[in-house]
Amino acid sequence: MVARGLFVVFEGGEGAGKSTQVSLAAERARALDLEVVTCREPGGTPFGEAIRAALLHGEGTSARAELLAFSAARAALVDEVIAPALGRGALVLCDRFTASTVAYQQYGRGLEAALVEHAIELATGGLRPDLQVLLDLPPARGLERAGAASDRFEAERLGFHERVRAGFLAQAADDPGHWLVLDAEAPPEALASAVWSAIEPRLPRS
Ligand code: TYD
Repeated sequence: MVARGLFVVFEGGEGAGKSTQVSLAAERARALDLEVVTCREPGGTPFGEAIRAALLHGEGTSARAELLAFSAARAALVDEVIAPALGRGALVLCDRFTASTVAYQQYGRGLEAALVEHAIELATGGLRPDLQVLLDLPPARGLERAGAASDRFEAERLGFHERVRAGFLAQAADDPGHWLVLDAEAPPEALASAVWSAIEPRLPRS
């Protein structure tokens, strides 16, 4: 896959403020006349949005089936949106990607690492983010900020969310060159500046 653009992913637990940071980064990039494509997981394609509804608001299923459903939605998003945009040289800003699968399905649900890795490889064809921004905060604070549980994941116990957080932090610690870890409780504008300082030097030069 020839990727000429820049692929930046925002990760974190519930109530971390990812979507605000995606919008603020998109605003800065558009002010520079860059082509910006924003997306969120699960979803971002008609097929993926249908899977999203089942995953977040359906009855629930086995952890293995859940892993494959997230992966199917991701394959559609990569094929239909992300890879074409990167091929055009765009800046792609995505709210969640593969690190969420490791954090939620592996650390949270307890699926084997090898199985999760295999599903990720299948869904992405090896496409990896250039930069992953982790908006980190204690789950109790995040859940409080998110308000009343609005989907199956938010309704999980605190212990689940603690494992998810540990999963994100472990991934960032393993690959510091591709991660920016920020305190999600900092003011949104300060976070946006820190994010932009990490994106700017990575932008493709024409
Ligand atoms: P969403 O409403 O987008 O949550 P948030 O606003 O917190 O991003 O719901 C997505 C949920 O799906 C979220 O709880 C995390 C979960 N998820 C996984 O469990 N695995 C995954 O691979 C992805 C992408 C998301």
